[in-house]
Amino acid sequence: MIELKQLTKKYGSFTAVNAIDLTVGRGELFGFLGPNGAGKTTTLRMIAGILRPTGGSVTIAGIDILRDPLHAKALLGFIPDRPFIYEKLTGAEFLRFVAGLFQQEGVEVERRGRELLALFDLDEWRDELVESYSHGMRQKLIIASAFVHRPEVIVVDEPMVGLDPKAARTLKDLFREYVRRGNTVMMSTHTLEVAQQLCDRVAIIQRGTIHACGTVEDLRVHSGNQEDRLEDIFLRLTGEAPSRELVEVLDA
Ligand SMILES: Nc1ncnc2c1ncn2[C@@H]1O[C@H](COP(=O)(O)OP(=O)(O)OP(=O)(O)O)[C@@H](O)[C@H]1O
Ligand SMILES: [Mg+2]
Repeated sequence: MIELKQLTKKYGSFTAVNAIDLTVGRGELFGFLGPNGAGKTTTLRMIAGILRPTGGSVTIAGIDILRDPLHAKALLGFIPDRPFIYEKLTGAEFLRFVAGLFQQEGVEVERRGRELLALFDLDEWRDELVESYSHGMRQKLIIASAFVHRPEVIVVDEPMVGLDPKAARTLKDLFREYVRRGNTVMMSTHTLEVAQQLCDRVAIIQRGTIHACGTVEDLRVHSGNQEDRLEDIFLRLTGEAPSRELVEVLDA
């Protein structure tokens, strides 16, 4: 459903994403892990068609996002890590606006918007301006907006940040149900428990290169150790085991 071939992004002479090949299938919930600055956001933004690759290709259901952006983007819902919402719209108006971007309107869209807001406990806030929303409420509205045009693929950058436990649970259940119906989710996360609990497969990216890809069980074998915590596997694979410097810093 998502296919990356030799996907590359350079900022000047710095290579943020280096010739990535990756395929995410229909019905799959795929986790994208990696240290800060590894290239996750850059990759997800290229998949969503909002950042132009330096090289390589992205296809969504076989449609090239550069050659046919309108058709590819119609299949896609993107939840960015630093979302932009118009402060002077209400929650309901914002959803209507996003649906409009995809040429969707009418009773069907209204009903879906209402249900999405209710799902995230925003129904009482639907007619309030976004400027009065808390951080988590904005996050929930952005998530709702990604689903409003019924995309087949959701690309999402650190979705759990800022959500309360109930909303985080709702989102996890929503993602699982969404992929059970044959849709696809690709999400970055730093929460390894979430990845372990939720994702069918994960990839670990580091310095723009994919270091490992597979089920958590595959990675366990790959890392050459039978430790059962994903945290240990992650730190081993990225060579980022907590250092002794910690003690030295505190002693200094
Ligand atoms: N607009 C930009 N100009 C120059 N360098 C950039 C730009 N955006 C990102 N980078 C660099 O590209 C690399 C990858 O950044 P990216 O935001 O993709 O990382 P990330 O994996 O999402 O990290 P985090 O976990 O902190 O969100 C970093 O070294 C970053 O400094
Ligand atoms: Mg990021």
